[in-house]
Amino acid sequence: MRIAVAGATGNVGRHVIESATARGHDILSLTRRAGYDLEKGTGLAGALDGVDAVIDVANVVSTSTRRSREFFTAVTTHLLAAERDAGARHHVTLSIVGIDGVDAAYYAGKLAQERLVEQGTVPFTLLRATQLHEFAEQVVHNTSAGRFTLVPKGLVRPVAAREVGARLVELAEAGPAGRAGDLTGPREERLADLVRRMVAFDGVRRSVIEFPLPGKFGRAMRSGQLRGDADADRGTIDFDAWLRSPDHTRTGAGEGRGTATSDRPDREGPAG
Ligand SMILES: NC(=O)c1ccc[n+]([C@@H]2O[C@H](COP(=O)([O-])OP(=O)(O)OC[C@H]3O[C@@H](n4cnc5c(N)ncnc54)[C@H](OP(=O)(O)O)[C@@H]3O)[C@@H](O)[C@H]2O)c1
Repeated sequence: MRIAVAGATGNVGRHVIESATARGHDILSLTRRAGYDLEKGTGLAGALDGVDAVIDVANVVSTSTRRSREFFTAVTTHLLAAERDAGARHHVTLSIVGIDGVDAAYYAGKLAQERLVEQGTVPFTLLRATQLHEFAEQVVHNTSAGRFTLVPKGLVRPVAAREVGARLVELAEAGPAGRAGDLTGPREERLADLVRRMVAFDGVRRSVIEFPLPGKFGRAMRSGQLRGDADADRGTIDFDAWLRSPDHTRTGAGEGRGTATSDRPDREGPAG
């Protein structure tokens, strides 16, 4: 199959590319570096001709309701229009478990994205996954000051981006299915415990301070609703196995000189 990937350089996107390559697919990476700005809609005219499926894992890290809605609405609208023009048969998108009714902060953008996909005319598959193990790295990169890292109180069931990327490729191969079953991680965790284990594993001296994030977004994190149903499909790589894997970028590896997740101008805080 010919598969176009939006967000190909991101946490999930790089695993989508790895998995799709291993399974012999022909890949088109819609990266900014290659001239595709999906928020502005540039580069897409004619680009999707001959594409069988588009996997959208583009992202903005922002806790601003306005910014998140603006980004996901623009990217999804541009992609769906280009897919319609090209006659693409399948749009595969990734959202987050448990966000129903949390029309605030980052999740407002994800709900807007889901609505556009579900109400659009391009056949789709929508997968919801829980927080990625990589989310702990993002928290440390974005909320650390000196020896301190502030972590929102949160109950999660984190999953490896590697397993989410592989699932998205399987779903692209299977054809449009509407809402797919949720994908969660193998174990329930407290977000602050993940961050503590990560900085200890990385040998970085940090005090991890847990605090209740105010508002709907913070309540959703604390309530446990983001963990999904206990009987949802579960990945097999737990957080500690992921820490020991090459998929984990060590805390401090890029601090002070920009990192894979913190050196972009659109980064405004942890969101996931
Ligand atoms: N993080 C989590 O815990 C989590 C959990 C469940 C679901 N998800 C969902 O998974 C998806 C991917 O998240 P992620 O953490 O993998 O993302 P990420 O690491 O933040 O990567 C974002 C990707 O989007 C690209 N991008 C951003 N703005 C763009 C633009 N204007 N034009 C073209 N490409 C652009 C980036 O490309 P550049 O290299 O050009 O910056 C990068 O490839 C998101 O939809 C997110 O909601 C995330």
